[in-house]
Amino acid sequence: MRGKFSIISNVQRFLAGVIDVEARGAAESCLMVVDGKPGLGKTRTMEWWAAQNGAVYLTASPGWKDRVCYMLRELLQAADPTIKPSRTEEKLVQQLRETLLFRNKAQRAQGSVFGVVIDEAEVVVREKRLVETLRIKLSDELEIPFVLVGMDGLRSDMAHTTPQGVSRVSRFIEFTPLTLEDAQQLVRDLCEVAVKDELVAYLHKATKGYIREIYNSLSRIEGYGKKNPGPVGLKEMRGQVLFSDRAGKEVVVYGN
Ligand SMILES: Nc1ncnc2c1ncn2[C@@H]1O[C@H](COP(=O)(O)OP(=O)(O)OP(=O)(O)O)[C@@H](O)[C@H]1O
Ligand SMILES: [Mg+2]
Repeated sequence: MRGKFSIISNVQRFLAGVIDVEARGAAESCLMVVDGKPGLGKTRTMEWWAAQNGAVYLTASPGWKDRVCYMLRELLQAADPTIKPSRTEEKLVQQLRETLLFRNKAQRAQGSVFGVVIDEAEVVVREKRLVETLRIKLSDELEIPFVLVGMDGLRSDMAHTTPQGVSRVSRFIEFTPLTLEDAQQLVRDLCEVAVKDELVAYLHKATKGYIREIYNSLSRIEGYGKKNPGPVGLKEMRGQVLFSDRAGKEVVVYGN
């Protein structure tokens, strides 16, 4: 399998959302929320985007709950591991502002959109103090996009925790199952053997468009294709396992 990152429609919608945040209205915040079911490619997309733009990417820790200073310290470490974090919340916010502004300036000078991505952000959106600290004291104050990423329901959790905050969020992006066109593109980008359209369509349906399962299936298809001549279709894969579903059951190609 090629290690390529594929610009499928979820990715395109996210990139368009970032552009919208840049052009946001005065009443809108710099905060973005990205959610969707597990295995739709959220983490990989955020890591790719952060690497492309020199943005900060970190995963929230359950230990942040009720501890704003923990969150700020980990953010500072992700933004600049050489800085020794201060002890008080106020000073940590100050250190973060300086660090993020410095990095923002450097990235913008290169034409990138700087930002901070917090993955698995459920703990953040469920605690008003955490989400408000990020939004009011950092993101909006510095005009730097902060992207909160998590499982489906992140948006409604946030609406529950901070109804005023949620109405100011600039963009909500929901990662949805891949379309057939997305699946076709992914196969072209990643798979090192030729795959017939009929098998891609079967795969798309059997996986319900979940990229994690499509990815796992492709490595099996590729394994077959490398040992056998010609493009791989349903007939060739008949009786073979494509992937294991979320209940652990193996999904086998029956062919036609
Ligand atoms: N655009 C892409 N191009 C290539 N591979 C991708 C892409 N998006 C996701 N993948 C692959 O699909 C798999 C699942 O993606 P990922 O872990 O990012 O999903 P997720 O939505 O973050 O899931 P979870 O909610 O469980 O954290 C990974 O193996 C990842 O490398
Ligand atoms: Mg993830």
